[in-house]
Amino acid sequence: MKVTLAKTAGFCFGVKRAVDMVYKEAEKGSKVYTFGPIIHNEEVVDDLASKGVGLIHTIEELKGITEGTIIIRSHGVSKEIYDIIKEQGLKLVDATCPYVLKIHRVVKEHSELGHYIIIVGNDSHPEVEGIKGWCENKNHSVIKNADEIEHLKIPEEKTICIVSQTTYNYKKFQDLVEIISKKGYDIIVLNTICNATEERQTEVRQLAKESDAMIIIGGKHSSNTQKLYEISKLECENTYYIQTLRDLDLEKLQSFRSVGITAGASTPNNIIKEVHTACQK
Ligand code: F3S
Repeated sequence: MKVTLAKTAGFCFGVKRAVDMVYKEAEKGSKVYTFGPIIHNEEVVDDLASKGVGLIHTIEELKGITEGTIIIRSHGVSKEIYDIIKEQGLKLVDATCPYVLKIHRVVKEHSELGHYIIIVGNDSHPEVEGIKGWCENKNHSVIKNADEIEHLKIPEEKTICIVSQTTYNYKKFQDLVEIISKKGYDIIVLNTICNATEERQTEVRQLAKESDAMIIIGGKHSSNTQKLYEISKLECENTYYIQTLRDLDLEKLQSFRSVGITAGASTPNNIIKEVHTACQK
């Protein structure tokens, strides 16, 4: 059986940077909390917990903390959360991915100019929650499909600034932009899809075309892993979504001549390696 591991499998630059920052802070000995799980990966989150890294989820919990360090994860957060960290006198370690920080800057600037912000992405995703928190005056909408465009109520004279969640599908983003541009608004489009995502998506599509079976490794809540799965499944019927080697039916794989493997941006290297090695046996 031919086993091919995608070159783009695993941690992207932003996630690697964020995880490294948490481990570095944890070594310092002071109380450390991450605002939300640092990545969508249970193994890594459990390991950090065993090193004493606390996990907070809500603004209320944040308000209850009086000392220590708060680490903001790569997804980023709203302006309100930075303000609370400051008010509480807590130390801030900002592990927001620089590409996400760029979106925050762009939406802040454009909404200050009075432009209407359209965020293409998943409304409930933490990254989008954070981006919304940088739009002034609630002048924004989040859309993820063409139907939602029809329900937008934007004053005609408004300039629209369109950005995207970093992990959004590039092709779908282009399609939605095209629909909006036909509505006659004055639009400014900023493709804020991260290259890491695009490259991983392009590679999985190609690999899935060439393989009899595909293995996609990642946490079940990881949206970028889910997208990899969707893309792969379109090209290769035998696509399997697993979190770790435990979920993989190795016996079933034996019936395939070629197997491709890739992993989401938050999948640790040791998990990928374990799956890769097991498939080669
Ligand atoms: Fe950043 Fe792109 Fe990763 S936005 S967190 S490098 S997927």
